[in-house]
Amino acid sequence: MNMSMSMAEESFDRARAGELIAAKAGLDGALLPILHDLQKAFDHVPDAALPLIAEALNLSLADVRGVVSFYHDFKREPSGRHVLKICRAESCQAMGVEALVTHLAKAHQLTLGDTSKDGALTIEAVYCLGHCACSPAALFDNEPIGRLSPAMLDELVLQAGETSA
Ligand code: FES
Repeated sequence: MNMSMSMAEESFDRARAGELIAAKAGLDGALLPILHDLQKAFDHVPDAALPLIAEALNLSLADVRGVVSFYHDFKREPSGRHVLKICRAESCQAMGVEALVTHLAKAHQLTLGDTSKDGALTIEAVYCLGHCACSPAALFDNEPIGRLSPAMLDELVLQAGETSA
Protein backbone atom coordinates (compact mmCIF):
# COMPACT_ATOMS: atom_id res chain seq x y z
CA MET A 1 0.00 0.00 0.00
CA ASN A 2 1.23 3.50 -0.83
CA MET A 3 2.21 5.10 2.50
CA SER A 4 1.09 8.54 1.32
CA MET A 5 -2.46 7.30 0.86
CA SER A 6 -4.96 9.23 3.01
CA MET A 7 -7.27 7.57 5.53
CA ALA A 8 -10.21 8.32 3.23
CA GLU A 9 -8.50 6.54 0.34
CA GLU A 10 -7.55 3.57 2.53
CA SER A 11 -11.17 3.06 3.52
CA PHE A 12 -12.54 3.62 0.02
CA ASP A 13 -14.99 0.87 -0.87
CA ARG A 14 -14.27 0.48 -4.56
CA ALA A 15 -16.88 -2.22 -5.07
CA ARG A 16 -19.63 -0.08 -3.52
CA ALA A 17 -18.61 2.91 -5.63
CA GLY A 18 -18.59 0.73 -8.72
CA GLU A 19 -22.13 -0.46 -7.99
CA LEU A 20 -23.40 3.09 -7.51
CA ILE A 21 -21.74 4.27 -10.72
CA ALA A 22 -23.02 1.30 -12.74
CA ALA A 23 -26.57 1.82 -11.44
CA LYS A 24 -26.85 5.20 -13.18
CA ALA A 25 -24.15 5.14 -15.87
CA GLY A 26 -26.67 4.38 -18.61
CA LEU A 27 -28.88 7.41 -17.89
CA ASP A 28 -28.74 10.68 -19.79
CA GLY A 29 -26.93 13.23 -17.67
CA ALA A 30 -25.69 10.53 -15.32
CA LEU A 31 -22.74 12.46 -13.87
CA LEU A 32 -24.54 14.61 -11.29
CA PRO A 33 -26.83 11.81 -10.02
CA ILE A 34 -23.78 9.55 -9.64
CA LEU A 35 -21.88 12.23 -7.71
CA HIS A 36 -24.86 12.77 -5.41
CA ASP A 37 -25.17 9.01 -4.80
CA LEU A 38 -21.46 8.74 -3.98
CA GLN A 39 -21.65 11.68 -1.60
CA LYS A 40 -24.66 10.16 0.13
CA ALA A 41 -22.90 6.80 0.50
CA PHE A 42 -19.44 8.06 1.52
CA ASP A 43 -20.25 11.47 3.08
CA HIS A 44 -18.06 12.99 0.34
CA VAL A 45 -17.04 12.31 -3.25
CA PRO A 46 -13.88 10.21 -2.92
CA ASP A 47 -11.04 11.16 -5.28
CA ALA A 48 -10.51 7.48 -5.93
CA ALA A 49 -14.00 7.26 -7.46
CA LEU A 50 -13.35 9.91 -10.11
CA PRO A 51 -11.40 7.69 -12.55
CA LEU A 52 -14.12 5.03 -12.23
CA ILE A 53 -16.76 7.61 -13.15
CA ALA A 54 -14.70 8.94 -16.05
CA GLU A 55 -14.29 5.45 -17.45
CA ALA A 56 -17.94 4.50 -17.01
CA LEU A 57 -19.23 7.68 -18.66
CA ASN A 58 -16.49 7.92 -21.28
CA LEU A 59 -15.41 11.32 -20.00
CA SER A 60 -11.97 12.67 -19.28
CA LEU A 61 -10.81 12.70 -15.67
CA ALA A 62 -10.38 16.48 -16.02
CA ASP A 63 -14.05 16.84 -16.97
CA VAL A 64 -15.19 14.87 -13.94
CA ARG A 65 -12.87 16.80 -11.60
CA GLY A 66 -14.11 20.06 -13.11
CA VAL A 67 -17.74 19.25 -12.31
CA VAL A 68 -16.94 18.12 -8.75
CA SER A 69 -15.02 21.31 -8.01
CA PHE A 70 -17.58 23.58 -9.73
CA TYR A 71 -20.44 22.51 -7.43
CA HIS A 72 -19.53 23.51 -3.90
CA ASP A 73 -22.09 21.11 -2.46
CA PHE A 74 -19.80 18.22 -3.33
CA LYS A 75 -17.45 17.56 -0.44
CA ARG A 76 -13.93 16.34 -1.21
CA GLU A 77 -13.28 15.00 2.29
CA PRO A 78 -15.59 13.33 4.81
CA SER A 79 -16.93 15.56 7.58
CA GLY A 80 -15.42 15.64 11.04
CA ARG A 81 -17.12 13.85 13.93
CA HIS A 82 -19.01 17.06 14.72
CA VAL A 83 -20.30 19.63 12.24
CA LEU A 84 -20.86 23.32 12.92
CA LYS A 85 -22.86 25.09 10.22
CA ILE A 86 -22.63 28.86 10.39
CA CYS A 87 -25.15 31.03 8.59
CA ARG A 88 -23.73 33.74 6.36
CA ALA A 89 -26.97 35.05 4.87
CA GLU A 90 -28.20 38.64 5.18
CA SER A 91 -29.60 38.78 8.70
CA CYS A 92 -26.61 36.95 10.17
CA GLN A 93 -24.28 39.19 8.17
CA ALA A 94 -25.99 42.23 9.64
CA MET A 95 -25.55 40.78 13.14
CA GLY A 96 -21.83 40.21 12.81
CA VAL A 97 -21.21 36.71 11.52
CA GLU A 98 -18.08 37.83 9.68
CA ALA A 99 -16.46 38.77 13.00
CA LEU A 100 -17.16 35.21 14.15
CA VAL A 101 -15.58 33.78 11.01
CA THR A 102 -12.52 35.95 11.68
CA HIS A 103 -12.45 34.77 15.30
CA LEU A 104 -12.49 31.13 14.19
CA ALA A 105 -9.54 31.75 11.90
CA LYS A 106 -7.50 33.68 14.48
CA ALA A 107 -8.28 31.68 17.60
CA HIS A 108 -8.65 28.21 16.12
CA GLN A 109 -7.03 28.32 12.65
CA LEU A 110 -10.30 27.14 11.13
CA THR A 111 -11.96 28.57 8.06
CA LEU A 112 -15.33 27.73 6.58
CA GLY A 113 -15.11 24.40 4.79
CA ASP A 114 -12.26 23.21 7.04
CA THR A 115 -12.07 20.18 9.27
CA SER A 116 -9.87 20.45 12.34
CA LYS A 117 -6.60 18.50 12.17
CA ASP A 118 -7.83 16.00 14.76
CA GLY A 119 -10.94 15.31 12.66
CA ALA A 120 -13.20 16.45 15.50
CA LEU A 121 -14.96 19.39 13.87
CA THR A 122 -15.98 20.51 10.39
CA ILE A 123 -17.11 24.10 9.88
CA GLU A 124 -19.50 24.77 7.00
CA ALA A 125 -21.19 27.87 5.66
CA VAL A 126 -24.95 27.78 5.15
CA TYR A 127 -27.31 30.43 3.84
CA CYS A 128 -30.30 31.06 6.11
CA LEU A 129 -31.36 28.48 8.63
CA GLY A 130 -34.73 30.12 9.19
CA HIS A 131 -33.56 31.40 12.58
CA CYS A 132 -32.99 34.99 11.49
CA ALA A 133 -34.56 36.37 14.69
CA CYS A 134 -31.67 34.76 16.60
CA SER A 135 -28.87 35.93 14.28
CA PRO A 136 -26.08 35.15 14.08
CA ALA A 137 -27.38 31.60 13.90
CA ALA A 138 -25.73 28.21 13.54
CA LEU A 139 -26.35 24.48 13.81
CA PHE A 140 -24.08 22.27 15.88
CA ASP A 141 -24.70 18.62 14.98
CA ASN A 142 -28.10 19.80 13.72
CA GLU A 143 -29.01 21.52 17.02
CA PRO A 144 -29.91 25.18 16.46
CA ILE A 145 -27.81 27.82 18.19
CA GLY A 146 -28.81 31.49 18.30
CA ARG A 147 -26.91 34.67 19.07
CA LEU A 148 -23.62 32.95 18.42
CA SER A 149 -20.70 34.73 20.08
CA PRO A 150 -16.92 34.26 20.06
CA ALA A 151 -17.12 32.72 23.55
CA MET A 152 -19.77 30.25 22.37
CA LEU A 153 -17.59 29.36 19.39
CA ASP A 154 -14.66 28.70 21.73
CA GLU A 155 -16.87 26.44 23.81
CA LEU A 156 -18.15 24.51 20.77
CA VAL A 157 -14.63 23.94 19.42
CA LEU A 158 -13.52 22.73 22.86
CA GLN A 159 -16.58 20.52 23.26
CA ALA A 160 -16.07 18.96 19.81
CA GLY A 161 -12.47 18.08 20.67
CA GLU A 162 -13.33 16.67 24.08
CA THR A 163 -16.26 14.54 22.96
CA SER A 164 -14.29 13.14 20.01
CA ALA A 165 -11.22 12.08 21.95
S1 FES B 1 -30.04 34.83 7.73
FE1 FES B 1 -29.04 33.53 9.14
S2 FES B 1 -30.68 32.32 9.90
FE2 FES B 1 -31.62 33.54 8.41
